Amino acid sequence: MPTHVAVIMDGNGRWAKKRDLPRSEGHRAGAEAVRRLADAALAAGIRYVTLFCFSSENWNRPATEIKALFSLFDEYLDRNADSFREKGINLAHMGRIEKLPALLQTKLKKVEAKNIPPECEKLRLILALSYGGRDEIAAAARVLAERVEAGALKPEEITAETVAGALYLPDVPDPDLLIRTSGELRISNFMLWQSAYAEFYFTETLWPDFSEADLEAALAEYAGRKRRFGKV
Ligand code: IPE
Ligand code: IPE
Ligand code: MG
Repeated sequence: MPTHVAVIMDGNGRWAKKRDLPRSEGHRAGAEAVRRLADAALAAGIRYVTLFCFSSENWNRPATEIKALFSLFDEYLDRNADSFREKGINLAHMGRIEKLPALLQTKLKKVEAKNIPPECEKLRLILALSYGGRDEIAAAARVLAERVEAGALKPEEITAETVAGALYLPDVPDPDLLIRTSGELRISNFMLWQSAYAEFYFTETLWPDFSEADLEAALAEYAGRKRRFGKV
């Protein structure tokens, strides 16, 4: 069983197009799939799930679509905040949320502040919002450069571990399994550093159709993989 599953939730737009619906309806159905996935992950005993919700590149989409997405995030938080506590889900985020609408930032921080104590936590649900892997690595480089400038760190002390320690969520273990839906075979700037040794699982399923059975299929495939980490 993977400890950490990361998901590039792709295909909402195509799901809507197939049904002659506006793209926003695809995103709405995608939010339902998020709820299903969280329940399925809890049932499977997965400890960390990271969801790619909005990328640093998604800022290049039409303003109307971005607005619709943010209003869905808002609705998702409203609808689920209470059930997170009941279910033992601890919500966290990573990414440049300072670029999000102020009200959404406040709401997100409010839900996170109500987070259940670690001893009651079954699942850490991490929303990657306004997230880019390159942004994250650049931010880590900046943090380390500042420490060097302050005399707290020597350049020769910078290792893979110190870089990892300066990422957005240094306490979260690297993803073991990275799922991407909708048949696209690329990483799209998601968790570039952390996915160095992730197992990749690609499925043609469009994100709004992703079900518990799809997660089970991914987990079954993962269970059959041989992870070598460079060893023989
Ligand atoms: C994924 O679905 C959701 C986000 C990127 C926010 P898309 O909106 O990328 O759907 P497609 O790829 O156009 O089908
Ligand atoms: C990746 O999907 C980002 C999210 C799922 C939030 P995109 O649909 O934005 O990726 P590209 O543009 O096809 O690579
Ligand atoms: Mg897409």
